[in-house]
Amino acid sequence: MTDKNRVIIFDTTLRDGEQSPGASMTLEEKIRVADALEELGVDVIEAGFAIASNGDFEAVNEIAKRLKNTSVCSLARASRKDIDRAWEALRPAVRPRIHTFISTSPLHMRAKLQMTPEEVLEAIADSVSYARNLCEDVEWSCEDGTRTEPDFLYKAVEIAIKAGATTINVPDTVGYTTPEEYKVMIQNIIKNVPNSDKAIFSTHCHNDLGLAVANSIAAVQGGARQIECTINGIGERAGNAALEEIVMAFRTRNDMLPYTTGVVTENITRTSHLVSSVTGLAVQNNKAIVGANAFAHESGIHQDGMLKDAGTYEIMTPESVGLKKSSLVMGKHSGRHAFREKLKDLGYELADNEFMRAFTEFKDLADRKKTVYDEDIISIVDDNLRDNDRMKITGWKFVCEKGKANSAELELEIDGETKTVFSEGNGPVDAAFKALRSLVGGEPHLQLYQVHAVTRGTDAQAEVTVRLEEDGKTVNGHAAHTDTLVASAKAYVNALNKLLVKREKTAPEEMSA
Ligand code: KIV
Ligand code: ZN
Repeated sequence: MTDKNRVIIFDTTLRDGEQSPGASMTLEEKIRVADALEELGVDVIEAGFAIASNGDFEAVNEIAKRLKNTSVCSLARASRKDIDRAWEALRPAVRPRIHTFISTSPLHMRAKLQMTPEEVLEAIADSVSYARNLCEDVEWSCEDGTRTEPDFLYKAVEIAIKAGATTINVPDTVGYTTPEEYKVMIQNIIKNVPNSDKAIFSTHCHNDLGLAVANSIAAVQGGARQIECTINGIGERAGNAALEEIVMAFRTRNDMLPYTTGVVTENITRTSHLVSSVTGLAVQNNKAIVGANAFAHESGIHQDGMLKDAGTYEIMTPESVGLKKSSLVMGKHSGRHAFREKLKDLGYELADNEFMRAFTEFKDLADRKKTVYDEDIISIVDDNLRDNDRMKITGWKFVCEKGKANSAELELEIDGETKTVFSEGNGPVDAAFKALRSLVGGEPHLQLYQVHAVTRGTDAQAEVTVRLEEDGKTVNGHAAHTDTLVASAKAYVNALNKLLVKREKTAPEEMSA
């Protein structure tokens, strides 16, 4: 293995990932994800789009101050104002990177930017050189690159490199390309752009046709040495290329894909759990690498094979992605040590204060429930990871009695102050949601209310998902509790907290570039 096969992993979970419908993270949650990504060993973290909102600016700035090894990047359109804001946020970083972009496809230039190709080329030269005067490390992206005329693309890339771009990213913005086409496109750019040896080429693939990972790998085979990707593949529409799938493909099929990354694959599972719980975006059970069934074997023939030799049906070990097989059965007699071991087996490593909070809740649950299953523990930890919410439910009273009006009275802590809300409704869940809605004003519409039992048994915890929509923005809230009504109210509050974050995110000011 030589250094020329080392692929830079650029994680955009906090930027493109956060643009997923339903996802939003508080500042504390973003910091937690950034810390986890640094421990995971990614090379670059795109921490946000600094000009998009004060929240984005603050997140980029806090992450820039905090990270020791990883490059921190902010997105910026091809405007000096965007670039100034990105640089202001990034300035404290040990390794800052400005990522500026503009569309280059005929359709985007005409319909979206309403600029001529010549104007776009001028904007590239101006924005990249302006960014490069501020920061040594400048990435330039040609949005909708895969639908750009080849000759225009070569010209644009040449200008960007000449203006000082050190990384050239060719996004498949709409998830349209195919592996062979994309590989040849990257090869042709490298071949036809006279100064291509002065930059690293990068891929950024969306998953509209389910090809994002295959396309990213093909681009690397064509000469790209940076992959932009996200944890769990979250991102705009169908998402981005999934980091864990790319990295494990390189590790597992190194005979065919002789590339390396700096990712510590044993941290994959816990990073995936963290991202899923803070964004509210559940991972599908059959998702490669990190889905609940990725290492599960149910058919008798497979189980028999596995008992004889795990290699019969497993091409990688669960341990290699940080999933340990565990036989620890947890109950009310389990102590701190066993709980910590169990958390490790499940892929969690909590700070001391988080551990104590989770342990107290585990003991509380174990008093109410005979056997505490792994799924119960996962939902306790996930609930705790959401503990930075501005609003928290601290008390409740539900009335559901024949002949009486159904009602809910809820006590909340909001920014440190206690408040009580009450409403009657068509059933206690409706009453609770009405009471809670009065706290935030506006018109959040309930799009989904879903309850499922975390485990078997009538004492199982209910896990509730609530999806709210307001002005085209959606958020997901989750919570679990042995009482379905409490879980419902908590999930609704979790969604409202996310809505408050979304409301702060105003669209960046209109511009023509
Ligand atoms: O998909 C895309 O084109 C992007 C760019 C801004 C890099 O996310
Ligand atoms: Zn994108």
